[in-house]
Amino acid sequence: MASPLHFLLCIFFLSCSIFMPSSKSHSTNPFNGGFAISLIHRDSPQSPFYNHSMTTYDRHLAAAHRSIRRLNWLLLRAASQNDPPDISSEIFFSANEYIMTFYIGNPPVKINAFADSGSDLIWTKALPYFDPSKSFSYTNLSCGHASCTELGPERKTCSKTDDPCTYKLTYADESTTSGVVATDKFTFEAPDGSLVDVGFLEFGYSYVSSPDFPGMQNGCVGLNREHFSLVNQLGIKRFSHCMAIPDAGGSGNGRMHFGSMAPILGDTTPILMDKPWHYYVTLESISIGDQQVPFRQGVFNVARNNDEGFVIDSGTSNTLLREDVYEIFLFIMTLRVPFPVTKMLYFDLCFHGSYQDLSSIPFVTFHFTGANVRLLKENTFLEVGGGFWCLGILKSEGDLSIFGSMQMRNLWGQADC
Ligand SMILES: *[C@@H]1O[C@H](CO)[C@@H](O)[C@H](O)[C@H]1NC(C)=O
Ligand SMILES: *[C@@H]1O[C@H](CO)[C@@H](O)[C@H](O)[C@H]1NC(C)=O
Repeated sequence: MASPLHFLLCIFFLSCSIFMPSSKSHSTNPFNGGFAISLIHRDSPQSPFYNHSMTTYDRHLAAAHRSIRRLNWLLLRAASQNDPPDISSEIFFSANEYIMTFYIGNPPVKINAFADSGSDLIWTKALPYFDPSKSFSYTNLSCGHASCTELGPERKTCSKTDDPCTYKLTYADESTTSGVVATDKFTFEAPDGSLVDVGFLEFGYSYVSSPDFPGMQNGCVGLNREHFSLVNQLGIKRFSHCMAIPDAGGSGNGRMHFGSMAPILGDTTPILMDKPWHYYVTLESISIGDQQVPFRQGVFNVARNNDEGFVIDSGTSNTLLREDVYEIFLFIMTLRVPFPVTKMLYFDLCFHGSYQDLSSIPFVTFHFTGANVRLLKENTFLEVGGGFWCLGILKSEGDLSIFGSMQMRNLWGQADC
């Protein structure tokens, strides 16, 4: 059996190698085919958003809460792909886990942005973060530009051909951000501190946010496969990521590799090519030890109206399973935990014990088409603090299911990350 890490790398390889060819929108990308960048977890002490007063338990609760909110957001985004568009397509909320650093403009300005595999737009906030009037390389796109149409009717706010291409994003908490689509020079910081010039990218310059933007984020890098995403704009045919082992605070950093830098090995599973807004894969079964969790074949397939399916999303912390499968999974798992069990808020299955106690609980394996991913035990049960370990897989409030970053952590091994 191939290692789980290889599987994840190959998912992205497949996804990008098949669908990308015709969609490259820029010709000047002098990054020699590949680059790597650091990912900083939002709860890492290196994160600009690190909060010293939070306990490990606080962080796990916050992560679970974000996961549930994000699932609802991903569901709405998927539903908004329906034709005719759903009214809920107005809602674009983006809770996110990993931060990547880039530089924009000439002279370059540093931006800490969330990496978001569930959206397309790269955007940055206005002052004090970025001031276009100080960048010699900044240009607004016009409303008549072909790219402006790609915003879609729910985001595009301009109508006259010669006006700037303006947009408005409305988030689940009813905060909004508005701006103009522009182009400017982008440079990414590699893990060794060197800079990779990727040339000009189309991005959103958000100059109005109301109220002040949630999550203190001052930018976002969209990594799905739609028009404005980094992956699409650079014509990247494959990318991979790894999330390191969590530190004492329950977080971990990682890396993302683009293009020729992305190591590809082992088994692969196909990405659904016709659904570029998320990374959908086919989950065939789940096993706990040698016992298969019984559920209807095809239950994780994407439904016609996009509100079902199984998505790999690094922006979601906890894996979430649709309720019918979750209930059976939880029932079997509870029988296999040989300790007194309890519930703690979002977590339905917790026990008090030590790391060694994990050895008496069976492995959980996700069986994707063509590839098996066996979860690390310390990613299946998370140490939430106070000697408690809780099942890190949660119940989805919809029929969409997500493979989250906590269960992807350290599949590669920290040394290589
Ligand atoms: C930091 O965490 C504490 C404890 O959870 C919380 O009360 C406080 O609001 C947080 N601060 C920020 C800036 O989020
Ligand atoms: C770009 O468009 C915005 C929004 O209309 C406008 O405020 C700004 O002056 C324009 N910038 C340039 C350089 O044309």
